[in-house]
Amino acid sequence: MSGHLAWISDELQQRSAQGLFRSRREVRPSGAGSCMVDGQEVLDFASNDYLNLAQDTRVVAAATDAIRTHGVGARASPLVSGRTDWHSILERHLADFECSEAAILFPTGMAANVGTVAALAGSGDAVFCDRFNHASLVDGCRLSGAKFRVYRHDDLGGLDKALSRESARRLYIVTDSVFSMDGDLAPLPDLCDIAERHGAAMIVDEAHGTGVFGIHGRGVAELQGVEDRVAVRIGTLSKAIGTLGGFVTGRQALIDFLWNTARTQIYSTALPSALCAAASAALKIIREEPARRERLHQLAASFRNQLRNLDIAVAEGSTGPIIPILLEAPETAVRVAGQLLANGFLVGAIRPPTVPRGTSRLRITLNSALPDSAVTELANRIGELTIHRAV
Ligand SMILES: Cc1ncc(COP(=O)(O)O)c(C=O)c1O
Repeated sequence: MSGHLAWISDELQQRSAQGLFRSRREVRPSGAGSCMVDGQEVLDFASNDYLNLAQDTRVVAAATDAIRTHGVGARASPLVSGRTDWHSILERHLADFECSEAAILFPTGMAANVGTVAALAGSGDAVFCDRFNHASLVDGCRLSGAKFRVYRHDDLGGLDKALSRESARRLYIVTDSVFSMDGDLAPLPDLCDIAERHGAAMIVDEAHGTGVFGIHGRGVAELQGVEDRVAVRIGTLSKAIGTLGGFVTGRQALIDFLWNTARTQIYSTALPSALCAAASAALKIIREEPARRERLHQLAASFRNQLRNLDIAVAEGSTGPIIPILLEAPETAVRVAGQLLANGFLVGAIRPPTVPRGTSRLRITLNSALPDSAVTELANRIGELTIHRAV
């Protein structure tokens, strides 16, 4: 490339030299727990479709029926003419599911995080953000214009001290409930204690919690018994719910406020009705089939056990279906993921800037459709690669 954009080629070369270039591939779902990667059938240990609902025939049928009556695109912002009966049905279902007064939809989970934090916090306020929070929460904090305070991962003492020194108008603690690259859970009761001590509001992103944690699948806030103490609960439809879109649940006034102010849902076309219908069907399955969630956790426990028996170290604190194996160098993560792919296992190779330097990793995710034999085969294959031994 030449001219004003010549620097792009240099930057891409630099990324390649550091093992950080991200190439594209085609992945096509090919049935329960498996997919085709560039034409090769493999077991899927890389998706966030934890309950295997993206291809469930009932979810697909709900989308297909809604496409017949409502068409494909929503045609306008929800505030203009894009909000259909399917949007209000889904918002009602989400509010009921989360035992909240009301819910509001966003085009994606990313949009929900960015739009919500930026709408609630502003100049004169301060947001306190865990260092390992998802990029969308970080971007929302930055965009908000509030003072942006990052605290070390799970550093409750540091957070408490920083809040006690803060004199901003409104205070927010913003956290993932499940840290997406580490698989560990935020200590929500402790964070709520700190928030209450300092008059801060809790904003919690349950992207990887919804459907996966809690007896009813309402997430880590349910599991840890703090649902009433979290003012703003953000979720996504794109992971355990198997579709696409983001949402916020909470008090009616909060939802009305976001409807009026959250720019990522005001200035974006509404979710397609078919996706709302599909998500409603998926929520019903999540309510009625807790065995999927139980199976997922049983599989995760068994996989962790097998890795432990093979002396393979899993990221400390990880629990549930996200199982990271730290490999440090980005080249190692890419090489090992490539070897596993050649052996029929798709796993994520996660590198900076998604994770801090020196902590590149395999990110293995489980889904309830995988047979026991699949996790045993993967554990054994990782064991044979002798990539990282526990000490
Ligand atoms: C913790 C977390 N929050 C938010 C998002 C964004 O959700 P979505 O993919 O629906 O935009 C993700 C997805 O990558 C995530 O991992």
